[in-house]
Amino acid sequence: MGAELAKLNAARAALREISGCRVVGVGTGTTVEKLIELLASSEEFRGKLYVPSSIDTALKLSRAGLRVLDPSTSPALEVYVDGADEVDPRLNMIKGGGAAMTMEKILAHYAERRVFIVDHTKLVGRLGERHPVPIEVLPQALGGVLRALAGWGLRAEPRPAGRGKMGPVVADTGGVVVDVYTGPIEDPEGLHMRLKSLPGVVETGIFVGYADVVYVGRPEGVEVLRRAGV
Ligand code: A5P
Repeated sequence: MGAELAKLNAARAALREISGCRVVGVGTGTTVEKLIELLASSEEFRGKLYVPSSIDTALKLSRAGLRVLDPSTSPALEVYVDGADEVDPRLNMIKGGGAAMTMEKILAHYAERRVFIVDHTKLVGRLGERHPVPIEVLPQALGGVLRALAGWGLRAEPRPAGRGKMGPVVADTGGVVVDVYTGPIEDPEGLHMRLKSLPGVVETGIFVGYADVVYVGRPEGVEVLRRAGV
């Protein structure tokens, strides 16, 4: 219950970021789901155009009666809003708990402003403390990538799909989602670059330098963390 209220508080605080914008990128996850409910309940926000980071978000937006644009043809995003799995003191993040990190990073990268909404349990001293790093791998490269990661001494496992599909989770963008168990990460950007250097790795869930602002929800209120210089 506390976590739900914390997520709602973070989502509500982010509305001020969306208020002056017409084209808004929307991430994926349970915190974003709360944001979508808030957007749908207000006349002001119903008039905007929303660009989803996943099929799941596209469905939720359209079921809520909001206007959805295709990311491949949409105008530039004035703001992108998303959740995260872990946030470190420099506002670096691990994302991809919902397997949408590739599209999330594409939308975030090209947006004019990037806003993240998390509950307080997502704050960590170092990335990798609680979550593995998800990576998206082209199916044809899976064997090679898994052997390379084992050679680096890293445990890596294709994420098992839930009910209704045998085998691994396949991202909306077509790759297999592999969770890489790193433990606390010394150098997030270095690890991201190293993982990306493997042919067949489409994207990683390490987001360095993406957050302009993070709204951290708590049951009793919201803390605002801004990237230095923003
Ligand atoms: C989706 O792939 C993720 O990057 C989510 O943004 C992240 O897992 C946060 O999700 P919750 O808001 O559900 O915790």
